[in-house]
Amino acid sequence: MASLTVRQLDDKLKKLLRLRAARHGRSMEDEVRTILRAAADEPDRATPDAVAAPRPSPLAARQESQPHAASEKKVLLIIGGGIAAYKSLDLIRRLRERGLGLHVAMTDAAQEFITPLSAGAINDARPYTDLFDPVHELSVGHIRLARSVHTVVVAPATADLIAKMANGHADDLASAILLATTANILLAPAMNPHMWANKATRRNMAQLIADGVHVIGPNAGEMAESGEAGVGRMAEPLEIVAAVQALLAPAPGLLAGVRMLVTSGPTHEPIDPVRYIANRSSGKQGHAIAEAAAVCGARVTLVSGPVNVPDPPGVHVIKVETAREMLSAVEQALPADVAVFAAAVADWRTATNSQEKIKKSGKQAPELMLVENPDILSSIAHLTSNRPKLVIGFAAETEHVVEHAEQKLARKNCDWILANDVSPETGIMGGDSNTIHLVTRTGVEHWPPQTKTEVASELVARIAQALRTTR
Ligand code: CTP
Repeated sequence: MASLTVRQLDDKLKKLLRLRAARHGRSMEDEVRTILRAAADEPDRATPDAVAAPRPSPLAARQESQPHAASEKKVLLIIGGGIAAYKSLDLIRRLRERGLGLHVAMTDAAQEFITPLSAGAINDARPYTDLFDPVHELSVGHIRLARSVHTVVVAPATADLIAKMANGHADDLASAILLATTANILLAPAMNPHMWANKATRRNMAQLIADGVHVIGPNAGEMAESGEAGVGRMAEPLEIVAAVQALLAPAPGLLAGVRMLVTSGPTHEPIDPVRYIANRSSGKQGHAIAEAAAVCGARVTLVSGPVNVPDPPGVHVIKVETAREMLSAVEQALPADVAVFAAAVADWRTATNSQEKIKKSGKQAPELMLVENPDILSSIAHLTSNRPKLVIGFAAETEHVVEHAEQKLARKNCDWILANDVSPETGIMGGDSNTIHLVTRTGVEHWPPQTKTEVASELVARIAQALRTTR
């Protein structure tokens, strides 16, 4: 077997490798090992070109050219202006080490303590610094940025930033993002102990906690200013990372005691004993939702059409073939608190189901007369008694995705619709990722491309939140 040492690499590659290794605090050999390991773990993308290709563009260009791949960019770190900002550089590194997609935004004051260049070098992407930056605003826009992530972390969260948040200000990039986001917000406050103890800060913190903001720290200890000690030190980067991970993972117990009904997969409508009408649904999304809900403590009944994915653990699975069997199984599974209709139910069945195999007559092809199947989602959502509190449907569309989903929401009387574009080029039908537009009675939310498992976790978190507010 041929051997290769770092010394044998060409100068340009060596230089890039040295920079990369320095950025990650690793030796060059360890950096090579990490790259190879990551490449070996991802066989589809691990072409020799992808491993060896140097990154050609400067930071700014890189930021714009990053594709929105599944599971990308889940955390947005806002660095506030305090001496603890230096710890945020380590926080960036720690979050990235765990494979979390990361955006970074810095306030003006933060840039007095650390430079966008250092934050950008560690994150491999230029940080967002300006509400009126035409480059970033045109490519992403602060509203889209605010809404495309799962969690916004503010570290350090200064007294000023906390006051702005508590009062809904939006006069700079950080406060505008914080006002626009629907994601989880995690604050890591850091300030002088007297500022932390001040009644104004206490009031602001109480307001933010009542608004559902999560908080980590501050810790007690020595302050950066000499001779000062008390409560006000920012939590350590690893503590913040653990808090972020807890927010990202679906919490066991989140749906404890909730009765949940999920439909999944296609239905098969027989034409004769050997042929049937079907569709391309794999059941991956519906099964992932059932599994995520069960992990969070819900009592889940999954009514599934014929699929090739395994039964999710801890879920009561009822297997059916046709739309009418699915409707009957769903009706028998009621009452439920929440019902999610992810199945791709066949809209039509043949008017007659031949008991014998239809033979070629050698003359004319047989004419199949179709009749419409019952709409399961619509029947359950229109129930006057026994209607689940939250009825959630999907909309599989190939054009005018959101518009059609809004019409379906109204027509079928459901509470939410998860709309997705199932045109063949999206690869959603049968694939592992999904791009969801959550349509509710009050508006539309555009989720970033995610794996179907991530969509399931996100949905479960939303359901838990909705149940909390209706209780
Ligand atoms: N659905 C259902 N029963 C049916 C058809 C659909 O329960 N007979 C549910 C699906 O599970 C999904 C939602 O209705 O939650 C929308 O399904 P979709 O296939 O997007 O729409 P259709 O109602 O079938 O309308 P169209 O095919 O005209 O878009």
